[in-house]
Amino acid sequence: MKVITLFPFIAAVAALPATSNIAPRASIAKADGLKFNIDGVTKYYAGTNSYWIPFLTNDNDVDFIMNHLQTAGHKILRIWGFNDVKTIPGSETVYFQSFSGSSATVNTRPNGLQRLDAVVKAADKHGVKLIINFVNNWNDYGGMAAYFSACEVSTQEQWYKSTNCQAMYQNYIKAAISRHRSSTAVFAWELANEPRCKGCPTAVLTDWIRKTSDYIRSLDSDHMITLGDEGFGPADDGSYPYQFGEGLDWAANLALPNISFGTFHLYPDAWGVSNSFGNGWVTAHAKICKPCLFEEYGVTNAAQHCPVESEWQKTSLVWVICSVSPTGMAADLFWQLGDTVPSTNAKTHDDGHIIYYGSSDWKCLVDDHIKRIG
Ligand SMILES: *[C@@H]1O[C@H](CO)[C@@H](O)[C@H](O)[C@H]1NC(C)=O
Repeated sequence: MKVITLFPFIAAVAALPATSNIAPRASIAKADGLKFNIDGVTKYYAGTNSYWIPFLTNDNDVDFIMNHLQTAGHKILRIWGFNDVKTIPGSETVYFQSFSGSSATVNTRPNGLQRLDAVVKAADKHGVKLIINFVNNWNDYGGMAAYFSACEVSTQEQWYKSTNCQAMYQNYIKAAISRHRSSTAVFAWELANEPRCKGCPTAVLTDWIRKTSDYIRSLDSDHMITLGDEGFGPADDGSYPYQFGEGLDWAANLALPNISFGTFHLYPDAWGVSNSFGNGWVTAHAKICKPCLFEEYGVTNAAQHCPVESEWQKTSLVWVICSVSPTGMAADLFWQLGDTVPSTNAKTHDDGHIIYYGSSDWKCLVDDHIKRIG
């Protein structure tokens, strides 16, 4: 999702409570046939996205939110593992990497990767597994464009191909992975949020995905690796999302040896298709899975959250329950988690897609869905 408004962060200081609730027999999550195995259990899983949780500055807030996910039975949480800036903010604002002149500097201070560490620690405590994403296609929280002047390119196509840009990007990946190389709280490392290369030959992205996934595999032989794309180009059959126009050939990218599972998103409002388009979209991907993660989905009309999104969830699950062959769907994560942050008593930013913990939408899309999964 392209996030437009920034979440208002208010710094506060609090220590993580000393209670311990380590999930039993934690192990590194893996693909098991066409499903996911989490802590020894192979089945279909549900979860959500929170781009904002690594940017909170209070450990207790992070723990509080992870506790809600654990209580609800959500096992997978996708987060932004990037926050790239060209101007260094005040010490109470979180950022992970800064660019100046021709250099990139990873921020390992308390307002830097130590915030990612706090999220990993809380996830570990609550048995939640994280998908950690390394760069944004969009300009929110910097994105590829934040690198442009430092690595001397001016377009995304150049960014994917530039030795200079890729050295900076890989250096960042290495810094993040080295902190959590053996953590059982990491579900997967993810190359980018919604990478696109409009009008490019699909080989541009496929080559970049091969190079990056091989690089990650050279650093970490255990965790899963995935792309984080919208799933464009599964068939090239005519309607916009199915075509290769955004530079993505879904099946070719999924076939790369060091990509562990496929991802796809669903935003009919943004793509100019009907809400009912979604069921066919899920089904089309389910047929080509490795397994597949239905990684982001949403409609902007709040009254439609429950009826429309629960239909998509059921379509995704049908591929598992009815054993329609091949049963490639392994999990779904709606966009996105909302909660009330205890230190400020403020609700997290509502981008129109938010599902607040404890709301009637939550009952529909979390409680009822998790009961259905069993
Ligand atoms: C996966 O990545 C590793 C590490 O870079 C590389 O040695 C290996 O050849 C890649 N796997 C395949 C099958 O290409």
